[in-house]
Amino acid sequence: MKFFVDTANVDEIREIHSWGVVDGVTTNPSLVAKEGRNFEEVIAEITSIVDGPVSAEVISLEAQGMIKEARELSKIHENVVVKIPMTDEGLKAVSVVSKEGIKTNVTLVFSPNQALLAAKAGAAYVSPFVGRLDDIGNTGMEVVRKIVDIFDIYGIETQVITASVRHADHVTEAALAGSHVATVPYAVFKKMLGHPLTNIGIETFLSDWEKASK
Ligand code: E4P
Repeated sequence: MKFFVDTANVDEIREIHSWGVVDGVTTNPSLVAKEGRNFEEVIAEITSIVDGPVSAEVISLEAQGMIKEARELSKIHENVVVKIPMTDEGLKAVSVVSKEGIKTNVTLVFSPNQALLAAKAGAAYVSPFVGRLDDIGNTGMEVVRKIVDIFDIYGIETQVITASVRHADHVTEAALAGSHVATVPYAVFKKMLGHPLTNIGIETFLSDWEKASK
């Protein structure tokens, strides 16, 4: 499974990237707004850090506007993937720009049928939001499992990005579900890294080593 970092903060991206575990980055308008920086500049800087897909989301709600934004965003760098919301206008935009070779990530996917439509329209990626589904009492990972199974049955090449990841167990479950990618926030990467027994083990090894060398 590939790991994307789900943030627009370049310091966070640099830190996790230095671990050698980052395959790509996803951003959304909320994450970019938090940075208080120029959108295109942030995306360009991210592409200079990570050599992999970097999702940048359109703001328009109508297909024509989305298509225009997608063409502009894709000029920033060849690794830019244009994130487009799962609406009828979004599907129209995906079907146009995907034929021009622009990669798209259809976002705000909450059901297998939405994922099927996005894949059919030509999306390179679909992003089911597991955390937001859990928030309303559903089991988000069930949706990921169903999408992965359906794509496998039909040999659909669209990749599934497990998004809206809220805790480390979501990452494990996404891997077990066969999700191609999990996009993971900085704080969750930190939680994945740590284990109390690892820290205790290091302390014991070092103190044993010091005792023996006295
Ligand atoms: C990534 O593609 C999504 O925009 C992001 O994971 C959404 O996460 P949230 O539901 O925690 O805002």
